[in-house]
Amino acid sequence: MKPHREISNLTSLIRKYNRQYYTGNTSDITDAEYDALMNRLLFLERENPELHSDDSPTARVGSAPLSSFSAVIHDPPMLSLSNIFSKEDFLAFHSRIVSELDIDQIGYSVEPKLDGVSLSLVYENSVLARAGTRGDGVRGEDVTDNARTIRSIPLRLNTDQPVNVVVRGEVFFMLEDFKRMNEKRLEAGDSTFANPRNATSGSLRQLDSTLTAGRPLSFIAYASGYYPDDFKTQEEFLKQLADWGFAVNRENQTCHTAGQVISAYDTLVKMRPDLPMEIDGMVIKLNSFSQREEIGFLSRAPRWAAAWKFHAEEMSTTLIGIEVQVGRTGRLTPVARLEPVQVGGVVVTNATLHNQEEVIRKDVRAGDIVLVRRAGDVIPEVVTSLPPEDGIRGKVFEMPEKCPVCNGPVVQPEGEVNLYCINPSCEARIRRSLEHWASRKALDIEGLGKKLCEQLVDAGMVNSIADIYTLNYHELTALERMGELKATKLFAELEKSRGNPLSRFLTGLGIPGVGEVASRDIATEFKNLGALGNASEDELIAVRGIGPVTALSIRRFFANPVTSAAVDQLVKAGFNPTEEDTGKGTTLSGEIIVFTGTLTVPRQEAKQLATAAGAKVTSAITGKTTILVTGENAGSKLKKAEKLGVRIVSEEEFLNSVSH
Ligand code: IVH
Repeated sequence: MKPHREISNLTSLIRKYNRQYYTGNTSDITDAEYDALMNRLLFLERENPELHSDDSPTARVGSAPLSSFSAVIHDPPMLSLSNIFSKEDFLAFHSRIVSELDIDQIGYSVEPKLDGVSLSLVYENSVLARAGTRGDGVRGEDVTDNARTIRSIPLRLNTDQPVNVVVRGEVFFMLEDFKRMNEKRLEAGDSTFANPRNATSGSLRQLDSTLTAGRPLSFIAYASGYYPDDFKTQEEFLKQLADWGFAVNRENQTCHTAGQVISAYDTLVKMRPDLPMEIDGMVIKLNSFSQREEIGFLSRAPRWAAAWKFHAEEMSTTLIGIEVQVGRTGRLTPVARLEPVQVGGVVVTNATLHNQEEVIRKDVRAGDIVLVRRAGDVIPEVVTSLPPEDGIRGKVFEMPEKCPVCNGPVVQPEGEVNLYCINPSCEARIRRSLEHWASRKALDIEGLGKKLCEQLVDAGMVNSIADIYTLNYHELTALERMGELKATKLFAELEKSRGNPLSRFLTGLGIPGVGEVASRDIATEFKNLGALGNASEDELIAVRGIGPVTALSIRRFFANPVTSAAVDQLVKAGFNPTEEDTGKGTTLSGEIIVFTGTLTVPRQEAKQLATAAGAKVTSAITGKTTILVTGENAGSKLKKAEKLGVRIVSEEEFLNSVSH
């Protein structure tokens, strides 16, 4: 047989078996037979490189290692979900939806919340073109080579049509696969993974995709990046995902009443221990895509969906003692040192006690048996202490009067429960600030982890963030565990970090109340450090998303001689961070727009046009609404707008106004 014929035959056979295996859960051939087909295909492609294509099943064995991941921009952003924790929370969510939609007939898609790592897959002309991790939701890491090694991710959609679609889902380990992998690693003398979730995130972020190929990861699809026009409901879309060759969760179901959702939750809680993968809750999504559009989004999460989280797992153990840690802002936190205990799949040895008030309220003392709780990624905490049988207890805990690290003064600001070390040169504070500066959501400096920050500060080489930019090669290589290669890489990373945008620079400064989202909002508005440093409180409050408390915090930060000197030092070290224009127009800036009725363009598109022109789009008419755009058959919203005197504009007028 001609090689190209044989390659094409083998390719379709292997694709068929992949689909059988991952969607039907049956297989006509044994694993050995499958491997033989794959090996033959690998051989033929190696002999005839011109016949190799990107969507060949052999991509599953991995490709040449990368030196770093490039970035992927998620369009639209990958959102998170708002959490709910009880039946009452769910009923509140439900009644909000019902009242906003003004209908009785409702459908929810309820789906197990898989406890893995989310992944966004871009298909171009039905072929997997790019795969990105969530990252901060807007910008993730390009892990395409790694995704190709995951057998339940189709490299080509099972369709004759050229389909362009963004498919999102979860990468995870089946518990059986995870167990077998750890057993094999143990036999081979390798370290084992603590839990499936961490193993997933580690495996997906390997620069060498042949290593990922050796990890038996799975993928389940549950969403699209946008609502494809051809689908009206999640139910239909899930069916299409399965037809394209994706695995979808077999426990997904559609519910039509609140009662059905609650009983689906109760059932899932009971099934949880017997499921083949780890789940940490149930996701509830409006089934109808047009209803979703009506309900809309908050900045980070849709308002049409919620994650009903399972109760956190709790275990008891002995409290060895209480230590006090000093954070980046100088805050003193009592931390419980515990006899190691497994909680929710990880070994816990420390748990936070938050502050003195909490310690007293919970009355925990050294030597007590305590209940420890851990929920997902959340820091473990001590819930309560259990009364000792013999009634004998340790001393009542008291917060120290001096900073336990620098011995400097400690203050308690008016109206706060927390104590703070106010010495700006406290080693603990510098160490933590540096860790934060280098962290992924801030300047993202690879190689500058917790250990190295500690070494640098302990050795007295670094007394402020800017100091890491004046280190020299000899000083650095003199440190323990710091070889030449590692040092060279670190210098390259530090150099690269100077090119970060203002938003990341701001996140890195760690101004109280200014996290990733606020940093982005502020950076978009002020564009450069000079403008931000000179901004008045009023100008800051005027930024969308920034309230008076955050505005004051920013003003204080730039007015404080110590913190502003730290910024000046960074500028001297070569930082001149700016923020690129997001390309937003201004024709509709300041307008708050609501759409109603049937539009001639997809509603999503209309919204994008409006936002791109600087407007804010909301779903309900309120006193703040400035424009109502009406399509065919506008109903109650039109009446309400008329009553409130809101400006009413036809779809045509609207489209004209944004068309240039
Ligand atoms: S939908 C806009 N469906 O939960 C909604 N998410 O906090 C996007 N997750 O990052 C998510 N199972 O990693 C959705 N069936 C499911 C899910 C699911 C797990 C994760 C996902 C996401 C997080 C949301």
